Amino acid sequence: MEPRFVREGKSKRIYIKNGELILEFKDEITAGDGARRDPVPGKGVVNAAISAHFFRVLEEAGIRTHFRGYDGCRRLFVERLEMIPLEVIVRNYAYGSLLRRMPLLRRMQRLDPPIFELHYKDDSLHDPLVTEDDVLRAGLLTAEELSLIRRLALRVNEALSEHLRAHGLTLVDMKLEFGRGAGGEIVLGDEITGDTMRILDESGRHLDKEVYRRGGTPQQLLEAYLELARRLGVEVGRGELCC
Ligand SMILES: Nc1ncnc2c1ncn2[C@@H]1O[C@H](COP(=O)(O)OP(=O)(O)OP(=O)(O)O)[C@@H](O)[C@H]1O
Ligand SMILES: [Mg+2]
Repeated sequence: MEPRFVREGKSKRIYIKNGELILEFKDEITAGDGARRDPVPGKGVVNAAISAHFFRVLEEAGIRTHFRGYDGCRRLFVERLEMIPLEVIVRNYAYGSLLRRMPLLRRMQRLDPPIFELHYKDDSLHDPLVTEDDVLRAGLLTAEELSLIRRLALRVNEALSEHLRAHGLTLVDMKLEFGRGAGGEIVLGDEITGDTMRILDESGRHLDKEVYRRGGTPQQLLEAYLELARRLGVEVGRGELCC
């Protein structure tokens, strides 16, 4: 059976095939909830490869994710989830929107234990920060699910921080999305890439989307993502040659 197109988001197209989803990573970058947008030829392939790599690291650490396979190019095969419309953020160092809402923190101040925060996923509202009580009252999660998501997010952070540290890299913060599997169980979904994490090398260079947020060109962004892949030993398929 041919894959059937389901929907297109800012960074991925979704297809369904035999009950399984295909996430196809696009050659495009956006910032400011889609206000800025540029083509980045090659980005889809490198981000799919990096995402597959991180999902494998998490599965090896015993964390359940939606990941089922990778085509070696720009497509991930994943378990279909009913996504929970929350951005789950874990922060190891103060950066970005945290500094704007809490000016008492210094930029890159170490946050130990990490800060766990939830944002309601709605671009038209600019993904507002919400409290745990908001989420419970709105019925987005049960109390048990909320505490499970907190524990899972912190375990993901531990595993990825350690993995990156082993390659000389620092995980500043990251955004995760969770969903419910067919039996209602909480599963980590979406992507794990330079679009969804801030990662610094030893010299303080960003190997993430910050390059673009700060006005860098699409080419500079691609170079940062390729450098992240190179540092992690992730093999990246070669553009049109692979799909
Ligand atoms: N395993 C999964 N099952 C179902 N949906 C998923 C899964 N993993 C990710 N998604 C969803 O796929 C959609 C497309 O991804 P993409 O990142 O391109 O969208 P987005 O523009 O960030 O978000 P959205 O369109 O939802 O506002 C997202 O809504 C994401 O939540
Ligand atoms: Mg997204």
